[in-house]
Amino acid sequence: MKNPLILAAAACCLLAGCTAAPAPGALNDPRVDELMKKMTLEEKVGQLVLFTSDWSVTGPTMRQGYMDDIRAGRCGNIFNAYTAEYTRKLQEIAVNETRLGIPLLFGYDVIHGFRTIFPINLGMSASWDGQAIEESARIAAREAAAAGLHWTYSPMCDICVEPRWGRISEGSGEDPYLGSVISAAMTRGYQGTDLSDPATILACVKHFAAYGAPQAGRDYNTVDMSERWFREFYLPPYKAAVDAGALSVMASFNELDGVPATANSFLLKDILRGEWGFKGFVVSDYTGINEMVCHGTAADEAEAGMQAINAGMDMDMQSAAYFNYLKEQVESGKVSMKTLDESVRRVLNVKAALGLFDDPYKYCSPELEASETLTDGNKAFARKFASDCMVLLSNDGVLPLQKGEKIAVIGALAASKDDLLGSWRGAGEVRSVPASILDAICELNGPANVLYAEGCKETGEDRSGFGAALAVARRASKVVLVIGEDCQWTGEAASRSDIRIPGVQSELLGKLAALGKPVAVVLLNGRPLDLSAEVEQAGAILEAWYPGTMGGFAVADVLFGDVNPGGKLSVTFPRNLGQVPVYHYAKNTGRPYVHPEAKYESRYLDVPNEPLFAFGHGLSYTRFDYSDVRLSASSFGGDGNITAECTVTNSGGRAGSETVQLYIRDLVGSVTRPVKQLKGFKKIYLEPGQSQTVSFTIDAETLSFYRRDMSYGPESGDFKVFIGGASDDVREASFRYEE
Ligand code: BGC
Repeated sequence: MKNPLILAAAACCLLAGCTAAPAPGALNDPRVDELMKKMTLEEKVGQLVLFTSDWSVTGPTMRQGYMDDIRAGRCGNIFNAYTAEYTRKLQEIAVNETRLGIPLLFGYDVIHGFRTIFPINLGMSASWDGQAIEESARIAAREAAAAGLHWTYSPMCDICVEPRWGRISEGSGEDPYLGSVISAAMTRGYQGTDLSDPATILACVKHFAAYGAPQAGRDYNTVDMSERWFREFYLPPYKAAVDAGALSVMASFNELDGVPATANSFLLKDILRGEWGFKGFVVSDYTGINEMVCHGTAADEAEAGMQAINAGMDMDMQSAAYFNYLKEQVESGKVSMKTLDESVRRVLNVKAALGLFDDPYKYCSPELEASETLTDGNKAFARKFASDCMVLLSNDGVLPLQKGEKIAVIGALAASKDDLLGSWRGAGEVRSVPASILDAICELNGPANVLYAEGCKETGEDRSGFGAALAVARRASKVVLVIGEDCQWTGEAASRSDIRIPGVQSELLGKLAALGKPVAVVLLNGRPLDLSAEVEQAGAILEAWYPGTMGGFAVADVLFGDVNPGGKLSVTFPRNLGQVPVYHYAKNTGRPYVHPEAKYESRYLDVPNEPLFAFGHGLSYTRFDYSDVRLSASSFGGDGNITAECTVTNSGGRAGSETVQLYIRDLVGSVTRPVKQLKGFKKIYLEPGQSQTVSFTIDAETLSFYRRDMSYGPESGDFKVFIGGASDDVREASFRYEE
């Protein structure tokens, strides 16, 4: 059958009776209303169904026969299928073989790059560089769109203070302010300014909401917190992405206040559509709807589906609850036609905004796929960006290495190309990785100056390689030990109950350190680890995360000082698991720990309260000195503002970047306030000897929070302002605000 939709467009235009498509993003495309008049109940339901193809598996069950479902008009959306060729094949079925020819929407998890893989998101956030993050999303969008994709399940906006949770690696860390900057940047990068541009893709804000706070860090586990805490610390990054124009949102697997997010009308209706005015559509997470039977809030899948759509869930990912039961539920009046129509209209309007009603194949271009993918430009960006995401946690001077010195490289991870890509690597392939860390060190230092021994694997008890590792270390002047976690130990369904470095890797570090050789540790991992033991033994620790396609070179660039590391932690690294949760916006309590010998104060007997590495921490090969904080006035009121500034001087011998951070404390509030809370930052780049004054504007918004009556705004009183290079390394000043 010919596609009536396209014929209509060509005939200008039968469906809408109009001459031109409305501006993309208007979300009230007249062609949608015309189309809906023609749709059967079954076809409408089909637009709310999302099934996975068999290309890639990202969840527990797989429905067979998705091509037949497309052909029957019963499945309007597909995920986990890509390449221009394959998506065209499926699109042709939808366009040519269904009654109305409504194009499919193709989704995929493009999380930290599509073909060119960038550092995992936790690493990206350590760059504190919104522009670079936006650019990485733009590159990912171009590569993905050229492979036929319209829609990514990103940005992941889940604030997390729980290192046991494997998915902490997919987010931007612990802070709502930084997280909001990043989620907005990613949304802009994916969607651009025109969603119908075939170089852009639809963003999906996930996982709505508070998925990053599972009890005990176990994936999918219960989430419960006060509404005040939820609104202040967890909601902002989702909202920032919606405000930046994201037109889809994914509900999370977890419950919140006893109601699974999948059918939580407080989240999906009151907050998302009511308070925020969200106009796009909401999709469930993978089988999220039928999981409500296990949650125990629905007796069976039919009831789960009904609860979901009535709560504002537009699209069913992979549950088949809408596919199997929704038609009958509308016929019997359990779900109103109005509810169904609203959801269908949202989905179709987003398809229209993507330009799919103008040209359903505009995203399937083998030519673009060849020219946009893994370009030299993309790879060059990935290399520089990856090195800018690395955090130098400690350094006694062993780094940077001198080129030409004899280096022993040790560790299974040093030779692994696969682990560089991390989990959720999109369509990134190991064969596209030009160099492992070992390869890159050989290339930069000359193979004759590099000795390698595996030493041990990331996991297991096998110490048989220790002897060879110690032997190469003895022959070298310095040791680079690459250790951490297998990349599949982070990401979804990868929670750990122990956040120390696994296996016998630390034991090997101890033996190498005992030789008296300077040892630089490079970490590949996706969560804050307990590094208390390693800090004592390593001369330097470079947190490289999983740095992506060009990660081998990026690590070597930093090790040899070709790039001066400037990353700062976006999440606190605890001393041990017992300190968790530990984060920079902690409150004072009624018994703050201030007297060293005190018993009845809020403290541990066995470790200090302070974490091992604070939020915002990150060293450089140069040194940055901060002046005192200067305020433009000692008070302000109403809608006014003041400026707080510091002069930062590069007093070391190398050029480098520094992220200057602004924190605020409200001394007396109607509810308790954090002792320090991030409210701004600026990243600067200074040549040796150069100084720059960095200023921040503080206004009522900076001071606002959810007051005792849950209204949002500032309160009169005294405040402290802190500026520095880490949350535990700041200068302070005081001011007063009058409402
Ligand atoms: C994950 C989502 C992902 C989806 C589709 C789920 O298991 O929680 O983050 O987008 O699968 O692959």
